[in-house]
Amino acid sequence: MTGTRISTHPAADQPLPARYAVIGNPVTHSKSPAIHARFAAACGQAMKYEALLAPLDGFRACVQQFRESGGLGANVTLPFKVEAFELASQLSPRAQAAGAVNTLCFDGGHILGDNTDGIGLVIDIRENAQFDIAGKRVLLLGAGGAARGAVLPLLQQNPSQIVIANRTLANAQALVRQCASLGQNQNQNQNQHQSQPAIEACSFEALSGRFDLIINASSASLQASLPPLSLQLLDQATLAYDMMYAARPTVFMQWASQTGASVRDGLGMLVEQAAQAFELWRGVKPDTAAVYTALRGELT
Ligand code: ATR
Repeated sequence: MTGTRISTHPAADQPLPARYAVIGNPVTHSKSPAIHARFAAACGQAMKYEALLAPLDGFRACVQQFRESGGLGANVTLPFKVEAFELASQLSPRAQAAGAVNTLCFDGGHILGDNTDGIGLVIDIRENAQFDIAGKRVLLLGAGGAARGAVLPLLQQNPSQIVIANRTLANAQALVRQCASLGQNQNQNQNQHQSQPAIEACSFEALSGRFDLIINASSASLQASLPPLSLQLLDQATLAYDMMYAARPTVFMQWASQTGASVRDGLGMLVEQAAQAFELWRGVKPDTAAVYTALRGELT
């Protein structure tokens, strides 16, 4: 005979929710808890997602404490993405390429590190903006962490060319050198000899010709400033994409709009990178459109 467990607490028979978190400093501004709560509700996943403020010198301890208390995975935001990269015991190729980790997955004794920022960008451009990157001439503005995370996922879309333009040319040149070795490694791993799209570094002033896609990965928008760029770099068929997002068009989007170019901010990238992390953790791909619309409506 099978006994019936009598519970005095109404929730005692419910499985505990799977626990995840975003770890950063600061972290109160993070939209990740709201995004993942919506994904979990839509996918019927019993999940608790919290925001954890780690001391600037206490990222590792924060991760360890969260793991020991039953956490299954975490998103990592500024300024800890490079520390998360160093902490991970296994890295995805795109995390290796980015040199940074935004998603951790705790698997027994292992810490898997992934970077979903760049693929989030590509999915937003390809699927939400319906812009096919294959064969296109791409200009990437900036050579910091945001640009570095975008390069491999962009390369995998087979653009005809990627030009990386940056205020400090030497930083763009260093990123191009990294990309070149990345492409060679990829081909060796896949035993392929296919040609890589041309990647080159350029100063803002020396840029010429028109681009199909211009992605602003510089932090200039955060200071409401613009790199010194000619409007002749774009036209009505260009997509001008700012990784930053705001309630109103960013200065970069306002600048690009003068030419009739399509413009888009990075809110979709934010939602798509979160969806990639959610799928990694839960094995379910959440619908992103409704979450994007809700977040857009909440921006002030
Ligand atoms: P992130 O990790 O967000 O990319 P980062 O690593 O600090 O931030 O990189 C910031 C990028 O924005 C760099 O490419 C930086 O150019 P430099 O390499 O010359 O520093 C660029 N950047 C920051 N402020 C800028 C501005 N006002 N105009 C143009 N580029 C700017």
